[in-house]
Amino acid sequence: MHSPESESSAANAGGEPTGIDPDGFRQAMARMPTAVTVVTALGAEGPTGLTANAVASLSLEPPLMLACLDRGSRTLRAVQQAGRFGVNVLAADQAEVARSFGTKLEMHEKWEGIGWRERDGIPALDGAPVWVACELQDVLAGGDHVIVTGAVLEVATGDGDPLVFYGGSYMGLGEAP
Ligand SMILES: Cc1cc2nc3c(=O)[nH]c(=O)nc-3n(C[C@H](O)[C@H](O)[C@H](O)COP(=O)(O)O)c2cc1C
Repeated sequence: MHSPESESSAANAGGEPTGIDPDGFRQAMARMPTAVTVVTALGAEGPTGLTANAVASLSLEPPLMLACLDRGSRTLRAVQQAGRFGVNVLAADQAEVARSFGTKLEMHEKWEGIGWRERDGIPALDGAPVWVACELQDVLAGGDHVIVTGAVLEVATGDGDPLVFYGGSYMGLGEAP
């Protein structure tokens, strides 16, 4: 049986419990390497996008994706307007794109100098090694975020290693300290 202690401590990590304050939680999750994506949608005012690492494949049959989007994000609003979203997995040489799309810059500034084209009614970034186009299916509650699920409309892959986010830094595969 679980004791309350074992629920809140990192019993299998061999280290000290980190507590569950937002900073400790963020720091612990920073030790989980992830791919880096830009989730995009064509909103009423043009292309929108945000950097997101809380993205995953959800189901194979039928093919579904999920992305966790901040309730206050402009991109979520555009996803809901468009009824579609795209997942652009960034390449190892696209750390600057990740930095820019991870900010609250004016949306048109995020897109300055970015190569993209409309694909499946969604902005697709040049140079992204993986493209997944989705039709919005569900918007599920998830604390200060929502989980959007999408039916996969199209998948395309190209060359290039993915960008990895680990320990608060961007790196390529094999560059981890
Ligand atoms: C590495 C990294 C990963 C992020 N992952 C997510 C994420 O999964 N979901 C999310 O909503 N915001 C995430 N963010 C924050 C958003 O990119 C950022 O807050 C964005 O400016 C908000 O969206 P908006 O510009 O559409 O308003 C991440 C930021 C960084 C730098």
